[in-house]
Amino acid sequence: MHEHNKIYPPNPEFAAQARIKSMDEYHALMNEAKEDYEGFWKKYADEKIDWLAPYDKVLDESDAPFYKWFTNGKLNVTIQCIDRHLKEKADQTAILFEGDRGDIEKISYQELSVKVNKFANLLKEKFGVKKGDRVVLYMPMIPEAAYAMLACARIGAIHSVVFGGFSAEALRDRIDDAGAKLVITADGAYRKGKPYLLKPVVDKALESGAESVEAVLVVERNRELIDWVEGRDHKYYELIEVMSPVCEPEMMDSEDPLFLLYTSGSTGKPKGVQHAQAGYILWAQMTMEWVFDIKEGDVYWCTADIGWITGHTYIVYGPLAAGTTTVMFEGVPTYPDAGRAWKMVEEHKISQFYTAPTAIRVLHTMGPDEPKKYDLSTLKVLGTVGEPIDPPAWIWYHDVVGGGRCAVVDTWWQTETGGHMISPLPGATPIKPSCATFPLPGIMAEILQRDGSPVETGETGLLCITKPWPSMIRTIWGDPERFKKSYFGDVVKDGKPVYFSGDGAMMDEDGYITITGRVDDVINVSGHRLGTAEIEAAVAEDEHIAEVAVVGKPHPIKGESIFIYVVPKEGHVNPDIKKHINTLIAQEIGNIAKADDIVEVPGLPKTRSGKIMRRILRAIAKGEEIKQDISTLEDPSIVGKIQEAVRQATQND
Ligand code: PRX
Repeated sequence: MHEHNKIYPPNPEFAAQARIKSMDEYHALMNEAKEDYEGFWKKYADEKIDWLAPYDKVLDESDAPFYKWFTNGKLNVTIQCIDRHLKEKADQTAILFEGDRGDIEKISYQELSVKVNKFANLLKEKFGVKKGDRVVLYMPMIPEAAYAMLACARIGAIHSVVFGGFSAEALRDRIDDAGAKLVITADGAYRKGKPYLLKPVVDKALESGAESVEAVLVVERNRELIDWVEGRDHKYYELIEVMSPVCEPEMMDSEDPLFLLYTSGSTGKPKGVQHAQAGYILWAQMTMEWVFDIKEGDVYWCTADIGWITGHTYIVYGPLAAGTTTVMFEGVPTYPDAGRAWKMVEEHKISQFYTAPTAIRVLHTMGPDEPKKYDLSTLKVLGTVGEPIDPPAWIWYHDVVGGGRCAVVDTWWQTETGGHMISPLPGATPIKPSCATFPLPGIMAEILQRDGSPVETGETGLLCITKPWPSMIRTIWGDPERFKKSYFGDVVKDGKPVYFSGDGAMMDEDGYITITGRVDDVINVSGHRLGTAEIEAAVAEDEHIAEVAVVGKPHPIKGESIFIYVVPKEGHVNPDIKKHINTLIAQEIGNIAKADDIVEVPGLPKTRSGKIMRRILRAIAKGEEIKQDISTLEDPSIVGKIQEAVRQATQND
């Protein structure tokens, strides 16, 4: 049998001690959920959450798709993540921080409690932050970022973390959309052995707009020289020490917003995905227990950035709710060499390692034998997230990093789902490489057509979740209509709109689900989600460009890369077009959205009604033959001209 088609059964030793030990147990749980959906969730909500006041209803569907979970229950997620662990785990490391330069800091649960309470008091007393206020975080990967998130949660403020790779413009748009009162940032941090700066980006963002911001709190990390606006900017270390280490947790309603996280859609500006309290923290904890099989004594490392949902759920909230030790890493896994990550696994005795396929491909390419130089025997579960993982990368991860001993869990989920949705269970699922396998117990995932009917086995369809789940997106901040339209507007099953993820998927004859990728105009570059519309809007800022179309192109390391077609205005010639456009993109969005290919073309393939045929543009970018009928195009001859332009551009590169 070809390696790619091989099935990898769970390691029997691991399975014997796992929380879910067999497919029989998996099916039993799934059946429980199918037979009594609310009863299923009630059991876990009662068992896992430290309620301050009980809820009255498990699921309220009266205002669908604005579903409500555990209505009128009261809790505070920081109790779930910190206080309740203090009895037995006060001295256990909660956050294990490793800096880019190898500096290490271990923060116990007791210390975390002090840090978060002081920070919460600082927010309240110095900056007047109240329940419901929005606070934007523009932070590097340092423990203070986690303290800041938790401090917001402690007092009921809504945090919105903006990834440190976004530009000043992108940051300002997110601040404006949320109407944030305070921005928390750092002077900068370290990357690949060198200091870099963040605060200047905040300064620039606040120069134009961002009127709602009253103050900027700056955590000093690298103490580089930065500009200072007296009265507006404040130093964290000057203020924090005198704060009281006791801050009463705010009584939060199950459905109060916990955070916003902006993500790209197929149209328009990024959407502020709004998550709630109880359902989110419940599923964050449950998936840590099921998918990573977190146990006492484990040291868990997720390499994501806190600016993305993976950093929220699987560096901060999930691991802390599960009471484990979560590793936070400031640097990159390839610095100073391709053995850095494996050295860290050895030194910290990491038991679960969770990363993106792009990182695995880079580590595989740069140092295929590096893992063998280190003792990786503490590893039990390996995870991947964010994009499809190709079989060679999967097999290397399994065989070489995991020594053939560890389950590789390919977890499918999204910013909107809050936590894992489709994933192997490491002690139960016989795994097929590059396959997300089965929905987790309680998650009703189906592959449908637009009319709600199922697709045939082996056919690609729309990946939908047909029942609400606790950690789901509640709305888009300030735009409930867009929420309905974006997620509940495409697929109707039995007369009811169901959640459509934007992804395509396929089920094989054994019921295994493989994710085939986005079916909308969203591109996934190194696991970073970018909307083509957003990039097109950035490029269209250039007054010399008449038209622009952005598509994704397969890339061996990044998964996808950005390919841009530009039609210059008549008579306009710019020999430096590529550099120029990428500068524009870096300004408007950030370096993560820069294009690998930018090609000037005389026109775009359009239907007679003016719709751009992106499918043709994607095929040309890939160098594929055009198989579809182009006679319906307004100007069929344009296809040959575009192909020629692309051919020439490739030759010149
Ligand atoms: O296309 C899917 C892809 O990433 C998208 C979600 O991106 P984002 O909201 O930024 O969250 C990323 C981290 C959860 C999905 O719509 N995706 C995520 N996980 C996988 C995946 N594609 C294939 N396989 C996965 N395991």
